[in-house]
Amino acid sequence: MRPIGDVFARGHEPIAYYTRMAADDLLHWRSEFPILANSVYLVSHSLGAMPRRTRDRLDEYADTWATRGVRAWSEGWWELPRTVGDLIGRIIGAGPGEVVMHQNQSIAQATVLSAMDWRGPRNGIVTERLNFTSNLYLFHAVEREGARLVTVASDDGLTVPLDRLLAAIDETTRLVSVSHVIFKSAFIQDIAAVIRRAHDVGALVLVDLYQSAGTVPVDVRALGADFATGGSVKWLCGGPGAGYLYVRREHWGTLQPRLTGWMAHREPFAFEDRPIDYAEDAYRFLNGTPNVPALYAARSGYEIVHEIGVPAIRAKSMRQTQYLVSLADAAGIRIAGPRDVAHRGGTVTLDVPSGYAIASALAARDVIVDYRPGAGIRVAPHFYTSDEELDTFIVELTRAMAAQPARAATATTSAAY
Ligand SMILES: Cc1ncc(COP(=O)(O)O)c(C=O)c1O
Repeated sequence: MRPIGDVFARGHEPIAYYTRMAADDLLHWRSEFPILANSVYLVSHSLGAMPRRTRDRLDEYADTWATRGVRAWSEGWWELPRTVGDLIGRIIGAGPGEVVMHQNQSIAQATVLSAMDWRGPRNGIVTERLNFTSNLYLFHAVEREGARLVTVASDDGLTVPLDRLLAAIDETTRLVSVSHVIFKSAFIQDIAAVIRRAHDVGALVLVDLYQSAGTVPVDVRALGADFATGGSVKWLCGGPGAGYLYVRREHWGTLQPRLTGWMAHREPFAFEDRPIDYAEDAYRFLNGTPNVPALYAARSGYEIVHEIGVPAIRAKSMRQTQYLVSLADAAGIRIAGPRDVAHRGGTVTLDVPSGYAIASALAARDVIVDYRPGAGIRVAPHFYTSDEELDTFIVELTRAMAAQPARAATATTSAAY
């Protein structure tokens, strides 16, 4: 590891001057995010900063409940899974009414899996070993229903070989379920190629957009994705409790999720005690009462991301993650995951010894990042991040590394975020 002075001497030429040259219009958003006033917040791949106006939205929720009571359901609450889903739809390229809100991404994935018949010869699920663990647990669970799981290995634990993934998809595959951006390393997968291959052999594709929506442009309809899932906690700055599910319209009529509930019924207030008669629209993919306060809270983040536009967020993210890579290079810190900005989402993963302890030491100095075993420290600038904060981060990181006793990383848990 090099001393801090050296980091500055090398890290600031020439890319730092170049990156500071252009005025960063997006920085005016900083005042909308209170946490930025007291911390260097580089963890939007985990929990995006709360917009100031979210508090007003939560007040609005409380006022509505307090003053309108049960009438609130017919005055907007019942429609929230769709009206809030439409705000997501604008960000991921879905049409009006095509996205419905769930409590989290895992439930959304489980809903899709429960709509498939895993008996018979077309029973394959193809996924990558680096898919998010919840999803993998769900795929293993449907093995009990007859599904045959094909998990594509990664050679480096950070990326997925596209040719291996494509080769695993064949006429026995019912569903291909992949992450757009791998959560550990921010590796961007070629979703278009996966969808083409899957459709060529008659398989459907479920894409987890959690680590891309809001930082990497995605258009589910242009891609022809059959299903897409995600949540609001990260890049969308929407907070916990608001996952989403997109289902391509053409499939609505044929899919009958076993994970269901009264909200999915064509006539929910008929309270029929027979097998469900599914709604014709995307409500057929819901189950029980929606998480109303979370849906109030989530809207402000979606609105801001939409107002800025994901292409502008991505342009800034590419510039700043490259800058971060140059600072890490100057400090002699290895990048875990893609070096090529075109293959990297919004997060840069740094392979530092004792990553858990380092992330904790940084948090104690209000520099917020996180750590994932097998990957490293994950660092994520977002549209509200200044270049100066990246400088501060690298100074604090090198300082924390210098203060660590020399030993190999042994932590097996994640840092507290
Ligand atoms: C790619 C990805 N998928 C899914 C999840 C988890 O989603 P949820 O907790 O909403 O089920 C995460 C969270 O870290 C993630 O990064």
